[in-house]
Amino acid sequence: MKKCILLLSIFFVLANCKSESKLNVESKSDIDKKVDSLLGVMTLEEKIGQMNQYNGFWDVTGPVPSEGDAAKKYDHLRKGLVGSMLNVRGVANVRKVQKVAVEESRLGIPLIIGFDVIHGYETQSPIPLAESASWDLEAIKKSAQMAAKEAAAAGINWTFAPMVDISRDARWGRVMEGAGEDVYLGSKIAVARVEGFQGEDLSNEETLVACAKHFAAYGFAESGKDYNTADVGVSTLYNTILPPFKAAKDAGVRTFMNSFNELNGIPATGDKFLQREILKGEWNFDGFVVSDWGSIMEMMDHGFAKDKKHAAELAANAGSDMDMESYAYVNELANLVKEGKVSEAVINDAARRILKVKFELGLFKDPYKYCNETREKEVIGSKEMHDAALDMAKKSIVLLKNENNILPLEKEGKKIALIGALAADKNSPLGSWRLAAKDNSAISVLEGMQKYSGNQLTFSEGAKVVFGNTNFINEVEVNSKDTSKFQEAIQNAKKADVVVMVLGEVGFQSGEARSRANLGLPGVQQELLEEIYKVNKNIVLVLNNGRPLTITWADEHIPTIVEAWQLGSQAGNAIAEVLYGDYNPSGKLPMTFPRAVGQVPIYYNPKNTGRPGPKKEVFWSHYQDESNAPLYPFGHGLSYTTFKYENISVDTSLKENIKVSVTVTNTGKVKGKEVVQLYLRDVIGSVTRPIKELKGFELIELEPSASKEITFNLTKNELGFFNNKGEFIVEPGEFKVFVGGSSVTSLETIFNY
Ligand code: NOJ
Repeated sequence: MKKCILLLSIFFVLANCKSESKLNVESKSDIDKKVDSLLGVMTLEEKIGQMNQYNGFWDVTGPVPSEGDAAKKYDHLRKGLVGSMLNVRGVANVRKVQKVAVEESRLGIPLIIGFDVIHGYETQSPIPLAESASWDLEAIKKSAQMAAKEAAAAGINWTFAPMVDISRDARWGRVMEGAGEDVYLGSKIAVARVEGFQGEDLSNEETLVACAKHFAAYGFAESGKDYNTADVGVSTLYNTILPPFKAAKDAGVRTFMNSFNELNGIPATGDKFLQREILKGEWNFDGFVVSDWGSIMEMMDHGFAKDKKHAAELAANAGSDMDMESYAYVNELANLVKEGKVSEAVINDAARRILKVKFELGLFKDPYKYCNETREKEVIGSKEMHDAALDMAKKSIVLLKNENNILPLEKEGKKIALIGALAADKNSPLGSWRLAAKDNSAISVLEGMQKYSGNQLTFSEGAKVVFGNTNFINEVEVNSKDTSKFQEAIQNAKKADVVVMVLGEVGFQSGEARSRANLGLPGVQQELLEEIYKVNKNIVLVLNNGRPLTITWADEHIPTIVEAWQLGSQAGNAIAEVLYGDYNPSGKLPMTFPRAVGQVPIYYNPKNTGRPGPKKEVFWSHYQDESNAPLYPFGHGLSYTTFKYENISVDTSLKENIKVSVTVTNTGKVKGKEVVQLYLRDVIGSVTRPIKELKGFELIELEPSASKEITFNLTKNELGFFNNKGEFIVEPGEFKVFVGGSSVTSLETIFNY
C-alpha cells in the first residue's frame, strides 16, 4: 500500500514537471514548487546523483581517472546516480545517454549536457582573447549567440564558458581563453558573453546555460604556471579578481565553476568564503557551482583533504554543488550524510539548484529538445556560422605597427613572398579549446591571400613552429634547430616586393596546461625572421598566437606588424582582407605586450609605489637592464587612418553623473573605427589606487575628416572601489581623467568629486 502511494505521488510529481512552460518571471516560483515536489520523492542517493557529473566516452579534457568505465557509468545512469555528463556531443550520442537517464532510471530526471564551447562549437570564432581585442560588445555577444546555437544543435545545453579570470601574466597559457588584463573591459565582456550564450530565455533551444569560471583567482597562478598557487591580498581580490564574476552573476549566469588553484592557502573548491559567503551569500547566487575536472580529489594533493571522503566533505560543505570527474560525491556523500558530516540540507540545497536549472532549460518538458537531427544538419557549419566567424575575426585583428604605410598591400602587379609554416597551417588558426572542430578545417593565410590573384604569390615554409604531433594532448618539441628550409624562403624573399611572414605559436601552444617560460617566437622562427630581414626589409609580420609575445627585436626592425591571434575557421580570409585593405583594422590590445619575460606580470595600471620614476639616481622602481615600458600597451591598436583627440572637458554640475567630453576626428583618408578610451585615477585613497583604470570606452566609426563629440558618464560605480573589508566606497577628492586611443592617453584633466 505504502509503495502504491509513493508510486502515485511520483507519477503526479513527474506529470506536473512535464507541463513546465518557458521560463519567465512568473514561472520562477512555479519552478521552485516543482523542484520542491520532486525533491520530496527523491532518495538521498538520487539527490546526490544530481550532484554527480561524468565525462562521456569519447573526448577527454583532463586526466582520465582510473575509476569509471563505460559499463559503470551506464549502470549509474540507470540508477539515477548521474545528474550531468560532459564531453558527450552530437545528437545521436546525447540522445543515447539521455534516453538511459530519462527512460531507464526510476524518476527519469534528464541530464544536463556540458561541453567547453569556448569560441564556437564546430565553426570556430577567434579565441576569446582575440575577440576581446575587438572591444566590440555587440559582436562578442553575437559570437557567443552563434556558438550557443551551433552547440545546442549538437545536443549540448550547457557551456563551460565564459572564462572571466583576469590575466596579467602572458606565461599562463589560459590567457587565450579570457578577456585579458582589465577589470572593466573584462566585466563588460563577461556580460556580453553570458547574454550571448543564454539569450533571454533559457528554454529556447538555441541557447545554452553559461558558466562563469574559474572561481576564483585562477589567473593569478604564481609564475604563470597552470594550476599553481594564488596568493593575493584582499584589495586585489575585491577590486580585480571578483568584479567580472559579479558582473556575470548580475547578468544572470546560471552556473559557476570553481577552480584548481588554492587561494591564500585554501583550495578554491573547498573554499567556503568564496562559494558560500561571497557567491551564494553576499551575491545571492541561486544557480549551481560545478567543480573543475577532478578538483575535489585534487584537494588531497594540495594537502588539504586527507582522503577522497574528506575531500567530498570539504567540497560539499564549502558549496561545490556538482562533482566533475572526482567520483567523490557519488562514492562518499551518502556515508558522510549518515555520519552527520554533511547535512541533508547541504544535499537538498545543491540538488535543488541543479534541478532548478534543468527546469529553466525546459528539459523536464522535453528532454530531447536538443536532439533534433534536422536542426543539427542545418545549423552546424552553416553559412550563418561562417559569416559570423569571419565578421568577428576581422574585428579581432590588431595593427601593432605600420611604418611607411606598407599596409594595405597593393592588389596588382606585385611579387609577394609568403613565408612561415603557420601561413599554410589549417589547424593552428582553430586555436586551443576546439574539440568539436574538424582538424585542419580553417582557411589558411595562404588560401586567403590566393583569392587576391592580381599579385604573384610564392609560399615557403621557412621554419616549422614546433615539431611532433601538435594535436591537443601531446607535448611538442619546441627547441628543434632545423633550418633546412631557410634557403628556399630566403630566395623567395630576395625576389619579392613585399614579404609577408606568418610566425607565432601553434594552436595548442596556449590553453590549459600550456604555460611558457619564454615568450619569444618558438623554435627557429626568430632566426628565420632575422635571415629574411637581411635580404628584404619590406616585411609584414603577421603574428598567430594565443598570448602576448616578447617580439622586441621585431618591433625594432620590422616595419609592419599585425596581431592576428588564432582567428578561427575563417582566419585566412579575415587576415587577407585586412592585409589588402578591404577591411580597416580597429582592434586594440586587451593585454599588454611585454618587452621581456622579466617584466611579467605587466599591466597598464600598477600602483605608483613610493618611488616612481624616472629619476637620475638609481633609487627608484625600475629594471637596470630593461625599460619599465611595455612593448605595446594595453588598448593599443592602429588603423589605416588616424584619429585626433581634442577638447577634453568635465562637467561636475551633477555629482551623481559627472560628464567627460572629448572630440575625436578622423584625420586620415579612409573611413575607420576607433575605440575611444577613458581612464580615471583617484589620486589619494584610503587604500592606494592604480595609476589609472579604464572606466569607459566607446567604439565609433568616422568618415575621413568627420568629428564626433563623445561624452562619458561617471557615476559612483566608476569612481568607487572596494576597501579592505570588501565594502564598496567612494571617497571625495581629486580625480585625474585621461582620454585617448590607448592606455597611453593623449588628453588629461582633473576634477574634484
Ligand atoms: C578543466 C578546465 O579547467 C575547465 O575550464 C574545463 O571546463 C573543464 N576541464 C572541462 O573540460
